[in-house]
Amino acid sequence: MQRGKIIAVAGKGGTGKTALSALLIREILKCRAERGEEEGGEEVCILAVDADPDANLPDALGLGFGLETGTSSDSDFRIRTVGEMRESLLEEKQRDATLDVRSEFEGKIAEIIVEEERFDLLVMGRPEGPGCYCPVNHILRMILDTLTQNYDYTVVDCEAGLEHLSRRTTRGVDAMLVVLDTTQKSVKTALRLRRIAEEIGIEVGRLLNVANKIPAGVEEKMKEEVKRQGLEIAEVIPFDPLIQEYDFKGLPVWDLPDDAPAVAGVRRIAERVV
Ligand SMILES: Nc1ncnc2c1ncn2[C@@H]1O[C@H](COP(=O)(O)OP(=O)(O)O)[C@@H](O)[C@H]1O
Ligand SMILES: [Mg+2]
Repeated sequence: MQRGKIIAVAGKGGTGKTALSALLIREILKCRAERGEEEGGEEVCILAVDADPDANLPDALGLGFGLETGTSSDSDFRIRTVGEMRESLLEEKQRDATLDVRSEFEGKIAEIIVEEERFDLLVMGRPEGPGCYCPVNHILRMILDTLTQNYDYTVVDCEAGLEHLSRRTTRGVDAMLVVLDTTQKSVKTALRLRRIAEEIGIEVGRLLNVANKIPAGVEEKMKEEVKRQGLEIAEVIPFDPLIQEYDFKGLPVWDLPDDAPAVAGVRRIAERVV
């Protein structure tokens, strides 16, 4: 297969981007493993990118103890973020003006990627110090352009604003999931994201509006209402109390049962994107 599909998961904060990103990684792996068994295929590599400054994808993937905000007693292991790395390189640059930050950066990125059995993880981190977050976003675009070539899939849990994707990357994004819930605000954000997606050059067919946390019985009503506002819903993920319970307890998505309603919904999305 063609290597290096990039899947961005975007949408208003709280709609379920992180939950769906983590589940999507799980379901892509499952999907490919099942197909691989049939085809005798090779291992699939996935890169998970947490691009939300309020990083919580590591938690959903079972690595939450590694962040500075983590509560675990495992203090030896900490995930270092792209933001921190940039900060320390800029400090070095002040001491040594000849330092080529960009090439140093490319070498160092490998050091901060967390390598797990089933996936690799890169955390962008919070903006460091006062001022603009843009340089980190610039770095993310650079990563999307190069690093992703080493993986079969890159799943990006985006920040709400989508700033990091709003300028075209040379590679583009292969699919964008725009997550919305039953709130009007999330629909407005989805409409805005569609415009950005057009700017980035995502084919309309690869932009999937995903309605998440939808209570049983309101699926059709939700679709109609959103359609009136100009959006086509590609997939409906039901409200699933297990997702909230796992989130509350800090349990990773790996342990969720296959037949949990939200898992089955994400499975359908995975089948569309692999
Ligand atoms: N399908 C779902 N059913 C029930 N709760 C969900 C579902 N998807 C997400 N949630 C819950 O919604 C909240 C926000 O989800 P999260 O993934 O953190 O959103 P975001 O990353 O977009 O801010 C969390 O408490 C999460 O457990
Ligand atoms: Mg999130």
